[in-house]
Amino acid sequence: MNDTERYDFDVVVIGAGGAGLRAAIEAREMGARTALVCKSLLGKAHTVMAEGGIAAALASVWPEDNWEVHFRDTMRGGKMLNNWRMAQIHALESPDRVLELEEWGALFDRTPDGRILQRDFGGHRYARLAHVGDRTGLEMIRALQHRAVSIGIDVFMECKIVRLLQDGAGAVNGAVGFWRESGRFVTFGAKAVVLATGGLGKAWKFTTNSWECTGDGMALALWAGADLIDMEAIQFHPTGMVWPPSARGLLVTEGVRGDGGVLKNRDGERFMFNYITPFFAAETAESIEEGDQWYTNKKDFRRPPELLPRDEVARAINSEVKAGRGSPHGGVFLDIASRRTPEEIRRLLPSMYHQFKELADIDITTTPMEVGPTCHYAMGGIRVEADTEATTVAGLYAAGEAAGGMHGSNRLGGNSLSDLVVFGRRAGLAAAERALQTSGVQELSETQVADVTRHATSYFDNEGTEDAYAVHRALQETMQALVGIIRVESELLEAKERLAELAERASKCAVEGNLQFNPGWHLALDLESMLAVSNCTTLSAIERRESRGGHTRDDYPGFRPEFENVNMITRLVDGEYVVAQEPKPQMPDELAKLFEEGAH
Ligand code: FUM
Repeated sequence: MNDTERYDFDVVVIGAGGAGLRAAIEAREMGARTALVCKSLLGKAHTVMAEGGIAAALASVWPEDNWEVHFRDTMRGGKMLNNWRMAQIHALESPDRVLELEEWGALFDRTPDGRILQRDFGGHRYARLAHVGDRTGLEMIRALQHRAVSIGIDVFMECKIVRLLQDGAGAVNGAVGFWRESGRFVTFGAKAVVLATGGLGKAWKFTTNSWECTGDGMALALWAGADLIDMEAIQFHPTGMVWPPSARGLLVTEGVRGDGGVLKNRDGERFMFNYITPFFAAETAESIEEGDQWYTNKKDFRRPPELLPRDEVARAINSEVKAGRGSPHGGVFLDIASRRTPEEIRRLLPSMYHQFKELADIDITTTPMEVGPTCHYAMGGIRVEADTEATTVAGLYAAGEAAGGMHGSNRLGGNSLSDLVVFGRRAGLAAAERALQTSGVQELSETQVADVTRHATSYFDNEGTEDAYAVHRALQETMQALVGIIRVESELLEAKERLAELAERASKCAVEGNLQFNPGWHLALDLESMLAVSNCTTLSAIERRESRGGHTRDDYPGFRPEFENVNMITRLVDGEYVVAQEPKPQMPDELAKLFEEGAH
């Protein structure tokens, strides 16, 4: 491959968050020579930002809990758009994955008698989130990383993958990228590739996502000819920081509400009682109590309305602010101080305590936090086969947030960490099985590699005034204002036009300096991914003319029967983004019964 550095493996996993690490562990344990390639440093993936916990029906706090209830909660939370088989696998396998993490060294908080403690979270019928204070993702990465390193996985850090490579039949057989530090290009030959690159939140202005979350895996799959699914489904977490501006969007864990925190508007009203939605109302209407005011989603079971699913809480906060009942900086108040002692708050939520103290000079043991919705998670992503995580392109697998289908149109909190390990494991297994049946070393196309490197370095030859930072800011403004929490057709169409203009501008970005650690160049390349996924989100959002989960259309309120059973599929056809409606897989009768009146 001329002077390009080259490595060959059976399985190459791109992304070293929870899904990537778990995939690599499985592939390695299957006997496949496995590489883990990540844009960041090992241990720094966005998974470490996951705070509140990992959802699994362990039944250690509520013996009544089981996989069927978890499955049903997940499907209902996703407004039934979820791939039922993924939701079933997830509910069935997440307890084993949590216990495995414990075996590998994760130290979960305990009940007084020594079982794994589980915390309440929105949309989960029972307290179901195993956690480590409010630093669960960090502990999970620590345990997975330790395991990965101890079994001899080769790790390639600070390497940005620019494109996948494909053989003559279109199967993925490698990837080409560059070392962020030196700018030198590198190729990886692989018999199977797993994409586990996480989300796309950096295309929005206010987000919980860290710098890596630029939709790289989704874009790599799209460029290789794979389908994306339900890209309109973007989750706005109800509680991000709103003040100070430098911290705007930062996650305030749902664990605050899970541990008793309540939401209030500027009049001190606990407004969530006004937003119990029709989806649950048939079951809840007669069960709302006076006094301490709890709603129930079954007559015998009480839940605070702050723990409705995230889409519903985020919309409620948005409505309060719009109605002029917001907090001084455009959010609402989240009060844990009046519900828990200072000692409890510091013990249960140490990161939140420090985050507000350091960044906002607020002591959450005495003072309510100001919070508001923030772009948090892509429910959509790369379309995969439920059991194997195979994409629609041979040799390519995807897991974690980069993949779509599992969470439907709205994800329940805590289901992300369990998704990572359940489907990361399955993707690693299937990729290793394919790789171990393939002999020889992959022949990589010199032309493809040369095209990629020529394209990637073309930004240094561009003349003109476009700069990647300005284009990124304009993209974030566009997605925030026009493809945000509440959408209408006229704004979505405007977004589509603006995205075309931004793509034109992005292609003309002129990068100064040289290849060595050049953040402007890195951003120009990340922008290619962000623009690709933003286009898919916008097109799907135009096409889904109804409101469902994280996708709220002001011009088409509520569910519509014609969209009940369809997924939005986006793909590239002759270089153009196209969207198609395709039938969603139908749930078998034995599972459908779980949703009938009187089940559980
Ligand atoms: O609120 C949180 O702690 C986030 C968790 C999640 O998105 O699963």
